[in-house]
Amino acid sequence: MNIAPVNFRQLFYRNTMAGIFALVVMLVFVAGLVIAKFTHDQTYLNWQYYGKIFASEVKYQLILNSETGVENIAANFTDRKNVIAANVYDSSNRQVNRKRTSRVCREEQDTWYSNLFPSRLDVFCIRQPITQTVNQETGTVTENKIGEIELIVSKQDNAALMFKIWLALLLLAVSVLFGAFRIVTRQSYFMTVTIEQMIAALQNFKDSRPNNRVTFSGSDDLDQMRETFNDMLASIERNEEVLEQAVILKTKELNQALEGSQSANRYKANIMSTVSHEMKNPLHSIQTGIELLFEGIPKTAPDYPSYQEHHYRAKMLVQELVRHIDAILVNAKLNAHEYKKSYTLVHLDGFMEERKVGCQHLCSKNGNTLVLEDERGISIKMDRLLLRYIVDNLLDNACKFTNKGHIFLRWRIHQDTLIIEVEDTGCGMGQQNIDIIFDEFKQIDMSLTRRYRGFGLGLAISRQSAHLLGGNINVRSQEGLGSIFQVAIPINGQ
Ligand SMILES: Nc1ncnc2c1ncn2[C@@H]1O[C@H](COP(=O)(O)OP(=O)(O)O)[C@@H](O)[C@H]1O
Ligand SMILES: [Mg+2]
Repeated sequence: MNIAPVNFRQLFYRNTMAGIFALVVMLVFVAGLVIAKFTHDQTYLNWQYYGKIFASEVKYQLILNSETGVENIAANFTDRKNVIAANVYDSSNRQVNRKRTSRVCREEQDTWYSNLFPSRLDVFCIRQPITQTVNQETGTVTENKIGEIELIVSKQDNAALMFKIWLALLLLAVSVLFGAFRIVTRQSYFMTVTIEQMIAALQNFKDSRPNNRVTFSGSDDLDQMRETFNDMLASIERNEEVLEQAVILKTKELNQALEGSQSANRYKANIMSTVSHEMKNPLHSIQTGIELLFEGIPKTAPDYPSYQEHHYRAKMLVQELVRHIDAILVNAKLNAHEYKKSYTLVHLDGFMEERKVGCQHLCSKNGNTLVLEDERGISIKMDRLLLRYIVDNLLDNACKFTNKGHIFLRWRIHQDTLIIEVEDTGCGMGQQNIDIIFDEFKQIDMSLTRRYRGFGLGLAISRQSAHLLGGNINVRSQEGLGSIFQVAIPINGQ
């Protein structure tokens, strides 16, 4: 529910006062109308009675046919206050008294509401027939109309009285409204002081200030409300303390765990690099040994081609092992956040050519063609080693997972971003695998009998490197059709 932007007290006060005001105005109006109607009708009845006396007094003068008599009686009645005219008519409606008045009685139209409201004419018009009782020989009595009297009476006094009555009613209404105002103000205070105190208490409670309890009291229910409200605040306070303690404890535990995991990470990186170094050193000796042994075999020896093939295979295997160990070393370094970036000017043409040469062997071994579709002449400032990790791993995968197909390497600058794309027409992968391939040691086929070699570090290294450069890698792939890996690295301010 939406309440207008006033506080509860104003709302209560405004609405109640408006209601009382409307009620009082209505009551005063109705009372005024009833009183006006009553006084009007009573005055009319009085004047009707007066008209009857006039008719009976003038009756004998009419019978005697004395115009002077009629004149005198009519003049007598005209003298009465408020009487504008007192006229006498004979049976043929001729005015008998000579003193005429310009005032003529108007008949008011009869409507359904004319009985509810006093007449709006400014005079009372009273007409009374003058009748004579005739005794017939047969003994029957008949009333013969021998004339009519007419009284025109001003309503001035009546209007003055009504004015006073309206005034009195208005005074009454004002005093009632004033009384109501006092009561409503007091009532609205009682009604809303509780809410206001609760709001203030909650505000203080929220801001951790003192005076955050309510103190109002009065009736039983108010006392109960106060106690329940204060109990609730106390309980929240207790819960808050308990929670605070729990949070402090958990934060301590988390910090300890974090420290533990950080030192474990550092420890892991140290071990990894020590182990890798220790593995690489003997490999170098093995490589040198293989070379020396091979050089010692005379080219004229009967099995020379077979020795040559073994020598080549051994050399390749040692190189692959060195590459794997390097990958473990690089991954450990990136994980331990120990890599220090260094930006140098990289000419992308030469850089990409080098990448092509590096993977050419694997590429042709699988019968693939690697095409460089490029934008020539771009040079940017970049961490060369991180960029190399990214492109080498993507190319390595494309060559590895494509058989007798095509691999495209593209690069361009678009809106201050270096975009590199490696597209292949290889085995591709399902959408469900795209989310996991960037995780360390994750491969789609993790069985021991898998076709492809490697242990799932290449994409993890590529992604970490892209993130370190402030960029990201996206993949679009379709099983059986191929994949596109797109790298975006911002080069702003270079
Ligand atoms: N171009 C690609 N085509 C198909 N699958 C790919 C491609 N690149 C990566 N993958 C999938 O992602 C996995 C993880 O790749 P990567 O991290 O480089 O590890 P690895 O090459 O050692 O398997 C791969 O084992 C392979 O299943
Ligand atoms: Mg790989």
